[in-house]
Amino acid sequence: MTAAPAVELRGVWVIYHQRPVLEDIDLVIPPGRYVGIIGPNGAGKSTLLKVVLGLIPPARGVVRVFGEPPARLRRSGQLLGYLPQKLMSQPQFPVTVLEVVLMGRYGRIGLGRWPGPGDREAALAKLRRLRIEHLADRPIGALSGGELQRVFIARALVVEPRLLVMDEPTISLDACAQDDLFEMLHDLKEELDLTVLVVSHDIGAVARHVEEVVCLNRRLYVHEPPPIGRLALERTFGCSVEYLFHGEIPHRVVRRDE
Ligand SMILES: Nc1ncnc2c1ncn2[C@@H]1O[C@H](COP(=O)(O)OP(=O)(O)OP(=O)(O)O)[C@@H](O)[C@H]1O
Ligand SMILES: [Mg+2]
Repeated sequence: MTAAPAVELRGVWVIYHQRPVLEDIDLVIPPGRYVGIIGPNGAGKSTLLKVVLGLIPPARGVVRVFGEPPARLRRSGQLLGYLPQKLMSQPQFPVTVLEVVLMGRYGRIGLGRWPGPGDREAALAKLRRLRIEHLADRPIGALSGGELQRVFIARALVVEPRLLVMDEPTISLDACAQDDLFEMLHDLKEELDLTVLVVSHDIGAVARHVEEVVCLNRRLYVHEPPPIGRLALERTFGCSVEYLFHGEIPHRVVRRDE
């Protein structure tokens, strides 16, 4: 028996107010791949991730994650780890970092039950992994943007997912931390046998780190291993894209034609 794809979208459409946001998307990702999704603002990247997670039902088309409808997997509290693009805007709740990470276990342990020592150890292990164990007892409101970002990544990981979906995980991180995170996602993928989907505006980092790139702008333009050609980028972004090459890697993206 061959394993089901980690992600399978067939003829997927999402329509808001009669306007298609995703058009006829076909996408198949085998298990164990590290995939970057790029595209301009409003391209439908976050919407695509939410469709994969079963948070948005498509108007048309079929979505399967490891061969199952994603909403069913999500209800079981397993397999899917998610870092949303919009984190807490006002993280002033009186909860600690460790408690926030433990929330990622609730799907596994069931509502109304308390996390046990095993859950606590799993949460601490993820904090250690992200090198923020020292923050475990801090109130969540007393963190920098980059620290908060790591806490939410730890929360996505503590689910112990088979599919990890990250929507702009590097947004609050400094340049070194951004590169570290892409690298760490690669290591985690290998160690934990994950499939990783990551949306990023950092085309250079995507090209350096991932195994497959998806170029999305309402339609899916390209799905292939990096490097991404200039034409593909221009078609996706709908504007002239200049980039400097360091070897084969697009290094920088600038200039929008008037
Ligand atoms: N709930 C909604 N109702 C109506 N339109 C929506 C809704 N959610 C998203 N949209 C629209 O769908 C389009 C795609 O949004 P989406 O958030 O998926 O884009 P994105 O590629 O993630 O953009 P960004 O890079 O800015 O995060 C946008 O035009 C957005 O305004
Ligand atoms: Mg988005």
